[in-house]
Amino acid sequence: MNTKRLTEHNIEQAAVVLKRGGLLGIPTETVYGLGADGLNPTAVTHIFEAKGRPQDNPLILHIPAADWLERYCRDIPPAAYALADRFWPGPLTMILKRGEMVPDVVTAGLDTVGMRCPAHPVCRAIIKAADIPVAAPSGNTSGKPSPTTAEHMLADMDGKIDAIVDGGPCAVGVESTIIDLTCTPPRLLRPGGVTLEQLESVLGEVAVDAAVRRRMGEGERPRAPGMKYRHYAPRAPVTVVKGRPEETASYIAQHALPGSGVLCFDEFTRLFPEQVVTRLGTAADPADQARHVFDALRFFDGTDVTGIWAQCPDETGVGLAVANRLNKAAGFHIIDLAKEEP
Ligand code: TXA
Ligand code: MG
Repeated sequence: MNTKRLTEHNIEQAAVVLKRGGLLGIPTETVYGLGADGLNPTAVTHIFEAKGRPQDNPLILHIPAADWLERYCRDIPPAAYALADRFWPGPLTMILKRGEMVPDVVTAGLDTVGMRCPAHPVCRAIIKAADIPVAAPSGNTSGKPSPTTAEHMLADMDGKIDAIVDGGPCAVGVESTIIDLTCTPPRLLRPGGVTLEQLESVLGEVAVDAAVRRRMGEGERPRAPGMKYRHYAPRAPVTVVKGRPEETASYIAQHALPGSGVLCFDEFTRLFPEQVVTRLGTAADPADQARHVFDALRFFDGTDVTGIWAQCPDETGVGLAVANRLNKAAGFHIIDLAKEEP
């Protein structure tokens, strides 16, 4: 298949791809998505095929406004509208009880469905023009880092999708925050651009799913099925070093062999003259790091490094999302300097 390149000037053409049951690469403020008509089971099946995604991993539906929730969800709690008021359109996905219209293949048979109202103006224009809920996972091949530019999405999907709309680089850079509102207290399933602290300010108590901070054991099941899979992984194994930025930088400088990969905060690049270095963003700015983390992980696949060291931010604010993506890329292979000290 010849994948068409579209821009913000081709909104109608993009909407037609969706309405005809095709696959469309869509820019969002978080990452690029692989979109299809969320009410068309055949189209949705093609998403799983293009990504090589396991069938038991459900998709989220993208809608233009909170007043579409009633069409696809039931027993919607007031908290959903409170969150929508504050954070939609934006990088927040809510898990709600699923309505009858939603096809099984979208939810992987679960009785809940993920709902998101994205902020990217091009994405919003396409959804409005198509006038359908758009099912869209991140536009990467299953297991790979999520794409934050059209070029990165094409590296995985060229020839496998009907068209892609180039909406520029993504402003947030990591996938949406996922909050499950079907349990009490509400539970954070995946950290993202809307922070845990922001959710707590609206919801009060918020539980954090164990899969956010550690590897699931044999037989354990995270509530977001996708959190159990190996993810974001470059070809070379990654080791994450946690602790104060100066200390993690000097630890890596002492341990990284010449020629190995280093993913470090901007301030420390000069410490690694013999390594293959890419920068994560400034140490004090996790939002900057979020914009770089997937590009940085992808970068190493274009090199011949056989191992990668990564500095990791602390887990406050958007730092929780950056740390989660790095830890997953590392298969939770983490050296915590606070625990190493005598
Ligand atoms: O920012 C985003 O959310 C991007 C853009 C394209 O919108 N989309 C995205 O989709 O990251 P995906 O499929 O790559 O990640 C969705 C995650 C998966 O881990 C999936 O298991 C989980 O959401 N999920 C979907 N429906 C769920 C449900 N009903 N209950 C629990 N987890 C669910
Ligand atoms: Mg994904």
